[in-house]
Amino acid sequence: MNKQILSNKRGIIFGALDEHSIAWQVALACHHAGAKFVLTNAPVALRMGQINVLAEQCSSKVIAADATNTEDLKNLINSSVKYLDGKIDFLLHSVGMSPNVRKKKAYTDLNYNFLQKTMDISALSFHKVLQTAWKEDALNDWASVIGLTYIAAQRTFPGYGDMAEAKATLESIARSFGYHYGIHKKVRINTISQSPTKTTAGSGVSGFDQFFDYADQLSPLGNASAKDCANFCVMLFSDYTKMVTMQNLFHDGGFSSMGMSDAIINLIDKK
Ligand SMILES: NC(=O)c1ccc[n+]([C@@H]2O[C@H](COP(=O)([O-])OP(=O)(O)OC[C@H]3O[C@@H](n4cnc5c(N)ncnc54)[C@H](O)[C@@H]3O)[C@@H](O)[C@H]2O)c1
Repeated sequence: MNKQILSNKRGIIFGALDEHSIAWQVALACHHAGAKFVLTNAPVALRMGQINVLAEQCSSKVIAADATNTEDLKNLINSSVKYLDGKIDFLLHSVGMSPNVRKKKAYTDLNYNFLQKTMDISALSFHKVLQTAWKEDALNDWASVIGLTYIAAQRTFPGYGDMAEAKATLESIARSFGYHYGIHKKVRINTISQSPTKTTAGSGVSGFDQFFDYADQLSPLGNASAKDCANFCVMLFSDYTKMVTMQNLFHDGGFSSMGMSDAIINLIDKK
């Protein structure tokens, strides 16, 4: 099979902080699949992270943008179209942060200013990216947009706090904007609901190691890694999935369909 399934595709990848980031692995996989793209992250993250190393590996350019700031997004999108010498074929939104989770605020004691930040960074930024791309007419027909999400949008994971609300909203934006962008330019918009993955954002969730192991034991295929997720993104960015849109796609080794597994029964038996 021709593995260069993204040759001639131009993209923007949000959220590569370090090599553990899902977006970092997506960038590597897109590069191997022949894509050209711009990497972006918040200015503060660019100072902390090692994104320039990734940019060098992928022959790509880094453009700073706070994903909550529409002026930054306008500059990012227009500069990317210029640098890539054409409109955009794929976008990855791999952005998330909750000050409540980070500061270990209980769900029953949320700080509402923090909650607004959680929603703005982790959910509304997805709308802002899409709306800016729409207004600047920056996406090609049949472009593919992916947002990363987690099953706490549908089921309760206590340590996930207010990120559950953000993910539910993110998934809803994918459906709502998926309709409008589908009609407008045949653009497809999906979310990938990824297994727990050991990254900076993931590890900030309380009880993360336990629910990482629990998910791994419950899923018949085990947890999907960041690299597996990257391969799935490449497929969704490609023309092989042209008619898939407005979906929340579980990429979780089967976790979302499970009730109980023998492995979990054995674990409980041992206690
Ligand atoms: N790690 C997991 O277990 C897991 C599971 C399912 C979904 N996800 C989702 O995957 C996505 C990527 O997270 P990750 O696990 O790779 O962790 P990560 O910490 O590597 O990535 C999160 C990124 O969001 C960026 N970010 C935060 N605020 C921003 C802002 N204002 N503007 C622009 N960028 C900003 C960070 O700089 C970072 O690069 C997130 O949406 C996360 O919720 C993660």
